[in-house]
Amino acid sequence: MDSNSNTPFSLKGKNIVITGASSGIGKQCVISASALGAFVILVGRSEERLKETAGLLDNKNYSIVVSDITHYDDTVSKLEIGIKNLKIDGIIHAAGISTTLPLRNITPEKLQPFFEINVFAAINITKLLTKSKYANPEGMSVVFIASVMGVVGELGKTTYSLTKGALVAGTKSLALELANKNIRVNCVLPGVVETPMSANAVYSQNEEAYSKIKSYHPIGLGKPEDVANACTFLLCNASRWITGTNLIVDGGYTAR
Ligand SMILES: NC(=O)c1ccc[n+]([C@@H]2O[C@H](COP(=O)([O-])OP(=O)(O)OC[C@H]3O[C@@H](n4cnc5c(N)ncnc54)[C@H](OP(=O)(O)O)[C@@H]3O)[C@@H](O)[C@H]2O)c1
Repeated sequence: MDSNSNTPFSLKGKNIVITGASSGIGKQCVISASALGAFVILVGRSEERLKETAGLLDNKNYSIVVSDITHYDDTVSKLEIGIKNLKIDGIIHAAGISTTLPLRNITPEKLQPFFEINVFAAINITKLLTKSKYANPEGMSVVFIASVMGVVGELGKTTYSLTKGALVAGTKSLALELANKNIRVNCVLPGVVETPMSANAVYSQNEEAYSKIKSYHPIGLGKPEDVANACTFLLCNASRWITGTNLIVDGGYTAR
């Protein structure tokens, strides 16, 4: 799509903060948002890997913020420097971690890191960037990447589901709370997408389990672009009447 056009699907002139920008879905969100004309702010832990993502862009309309987003004070101070005087039009929180853990192995200590990155970091960054100082008063869009595991179950996915379900539920209340500031909040719920996360998952370690997971997706496993396209839609003006929604993008996984 032509990023210079006046189509409501354009992100031209918009400043978008993307977490998880070093890998998988977040990396593709950077590429897709940039291709639609956005200035992108890449957030992640590894400067080298963020630079790799930035190197894939065909312009220099980006900045890099290196921070472990579970270290909130560090993230706030680095984001404040990184975004300088920019007004922020959108956030995609794509950073996240997953696990397969039976109930007998779940402890509060083991739950903590999953909530830290998947949920707490999402809320902390949203809290910062939706302040009047940063949020574009003409409108802003927040997109959390949850998972179908936030609305349906799978053996061993309780820990992950708890965190993604929290995002799914929180999206609605946050959308109501921020509506009067002209800020929309939505969640995208992917099925299995081909990224380093899914490549490292238990089901990818043997052919039978992988085929089974694949068969649960009637039109096949997802590509990062499939999720990034849903996210850029939720960021652009074409979706200006959509808030508090959980958009399932799963190749039919939850249709059965
Ligand atoms: N792939 C799937 O099948 C799938 C399905 C449903 C939902 N999702 C969700 O989609 C999102 C992206 O997943 P993915 O498949 O793209 O995974 P991925 O390739 O493993 O990428 C995860 C990203 O999260 C970042 N991250 C993790 N911990 C962080 C921390 N403490 N501080 C800053 N960044 C951190 C990683 O940065 P580093 O480079 O620093 O590690 C990386 O950029 C996740 O929320 C995931 O739960 C994925």
